[in-house]
Amino acid sequence: MYADNWSIKAKNAGYRSRAIYKLEEILQKTKSTTGIRNVLDIGSAPGGWSQLIRSKIKNSNVYAIDILDMPNIEGVRFFNVSIENIDSITEIRELKDKFDLVISDLAPNISGIAAVDNENIYDLNVLTLNTAIKYLNSNKGSLIMKTFQNNKLKSLRKKMELSFEVVQTLKPAASKKQSGEIFLYGAIK
Ligand SMILES: C[S@@+](CC[C@H](N)C(=O)[O-])C[C@H]1O[C@@H](n2cnc3c(N)ncnc32)[C@H](O)[C@@H]1O
Repeated sequence: MYADNWSIKAKNAGYRSRAIYKLEEILQKTKSTTGIRNVLDIGSAPGGWSQLIRSKIKNSNVYAIDILDMPNIEGVRFFNVSIENIDSITEIRELKDKFDLVISDLAPNISGIAAVDNENIYDLNVLTLNTAIKYLNSNKGSLIMKTFQNNKLKSLRKKMELSFEVVQTLKPAASKKQSGEIFLYGAIK
């Protein structure tokens, strides 16, 4: 399917972003929708991933954060905060070790200077990884995180392997081929 068709398909289905098809494929491939109750969505705006989780996982409680505002979604508690300040949100802090799934589609602004951008993305990915480790159920949680194909990818994956028993790298069909984005999945078994 052409990239544009994903956007049309998403719009017709009432979703706020074409990115939902990336998450849908990853959830299918990794079978990560069973036994899920609490979900943390990092970099959630405009809200496509949160919408998808709510429609796929009935009774899920989604907690979403973004530095941009996000219009309301039923069953989603949104906080207009950077990941750097996630611990300041009492409602989220109280759920430490109680999240079943952390999803992050977080993407920082790009400067165009590769060395600077790669470093920035890596730092935010490491922060996301550490946040997931802190908030996930230490017996059975999983993480789906967007990153980019660059000289830091190997070291990021290695870091992830220290905390997750299963780690996979995925490039869903809806992710534009020319885009360097790629997704890491990690599961604590
Ligand atoms: C690709 S969009 C997410 C799209 C979303 N998954 C969807 O399906 O609608 C990436 C988001 O990451 C957010 N972001 C960037 N830096 C952030 C940070 N430090 N903390 C939280 N969110 C951030 C951006 O504001 C942007 O909304």
